[in-house]
Amino acid sequence: MKKRKKEVVTVVGLGYVGLPLAVLAAERGYRVFGVARNKRNINMLNRGVNTLKDDPSLDKAIAKKLIKATTSYEPIRKSDIVIVCVPTPIDEFYNPDLTPVISASKGIVRNLKKGQLVIIESTINPGVCEEVVLPILESTGKKVGKDFELAHCPERIDPGNVKWNVRNIPRCVGSVTKKGAVRAAKFYRSILSAEVRVMKSIKEAEATKIIENTFRDINIAYVNELAKSFDVLGIDVYDVIQGAATKPFAFMPHYPSVGVGGHCIAVDPYYLIERARKAGFDHKFLKLAREINNSMPSYTVEKLQSALNELGLPIKGTKIGILGLSYKANVGDMRESPSRKVIALLKDLGAKIEVFDPYFPEFSTTKSLQVCLQNSQAIILATNHREFLNLNPKELKKHKVKVVIDGKNAWNKEAIQNQGIVYKGIGR
Ligand SMILES: NC(=O)c1ccc[n+]([C@@H]2O[C@H](COP(=O)([O-])OP(=O)(O)OC[C@H]3O[C@@H](n4cnc5c(N)ncnc54)[C@H](O)[C@@H]3O)[C@@H](O)[C@H]2O)c1
Repeated sequence: MKKRKKEVVTVVGLGYVGLPLAVLAAERGYRVFGVARNKRNINMLNRGVNTLKDDPSLDKAIAKKLIKATTSYEPIRKSDIVIVCVPTPIDEFYNPDLTPVISASKGIVRNLKKGQLVIIESTINPGVCEEVVLPILESTGKKVGKDFELAHCPERIDPGNVKWNVRNIPRCVGSVTKKGAVRAAKFYRSILSAEVRVMKSIKEAEATKIIENTFRDINIAYVNELAKSFDVLGIDVYDVIQGAATKPFAFMPHYPSVGVGGHCIAVDPYYLIERARKAGFDHKFLKLAREINNSMPSYTVEKLQSALNELGLPIKGTKIGILGLSYKANVGDMRESPSRKVIALLKDLGAKIEVFDPYFPEFSTTKSLQVCLQNSQAIILATNHREFLNLNPKELKKHKVKVVIDGKNAWNKEAIQNQGIVYKGIGR
């Protein structure tokens, strides 16, 4: 651990983004407080227990009780830097929900200290800092640039990624004032082993994150559309993408699947779409990408129906096993997970559902993968957890599984077909 620094940091929001950041700042010598809502998690952290099961790299630092967690915003009174890492979800109509950012800003303004640097890390559309956060922070008469600074540094963390993490992912920062940008960049340079790029404005910093995630959403929508087209043409899209990926420049492989989930890619484009709409611009391309990606769970169910048809099986009453609830492999996070949509659709169609996810025993209907296979006539692979990837196709045959829908194109098509099982991937 580095020599103790004088500055005190409070991180508001201790989830996938806030907790690794708080740990890193503490390891780099800052005195760190954490503010969050869930009392159980706060008690665990203060007892030295890591609340992020997916990230055991935090275990040691949390066991040393380097972070003092609380539900109260009071530690902000003695902090030099406050970093906001609260959720930015959408509602059921896909409208951005800034309630957590607003309530965190209100919590900060009640405790704002002269000279404080407030940094928003939550993903937001261009304009949120100046149009939503700043008016709250200035509501008591204090002025940005004089009494406090406001900066934005979007987080790019990718839970489960072993190569790129909170320590080594480069960052972009922007601020309302030049002085604020210099201070924010200095802070991030003191904790990161990566480039910190200072953007010309806070809006530019906000926009970087949105375009990164929208870029992914659009590219995934493109291959999801290709999957549907190639299913009709009888071409294996997965093989084709692998072939195209041999081009060493100007092609970046993305892969089709059962759908796009998670707190970021399935959510962030709506923040830009909505803000641009209010300003009079219609993001047709981004809306179409969202529409295509949102259609993939029902497309997966259609593929199941057509596979069952080949065997003369109705969907109603047939036993379907869903493997995976997480939105992505090897993490216990099911926000916006496509498998939940698949399950809802299948229930509506009268299928009998079994679910197994080793990360969610409490939401699984069976205790093990084996029992799930045993109880299923058809399987949908919805998450490519490592526990599922190792499955030997002979196990499927042993349990009399007749149909496999590989929602992640992660299994060996030929090996499954060789067992006499109907295999369908997404675009293959
Ligand atoms: N999860 C990711 O992979 C990821 C990656 C990059 C950016 N982001 C962005 O970072 C932000 C946080 O995401 P996350 O995944 O860490 O969320 P999370 O749900 O894992 O954690 C949110 C934390 O905020 C706390 N919280 C909620 N409302 C609060 C409030 N009003 N006051 C204080 N604490 C509050 C919760 O108790 C929790 O500790 C979001 O804007 C998200 O889009 C997430």
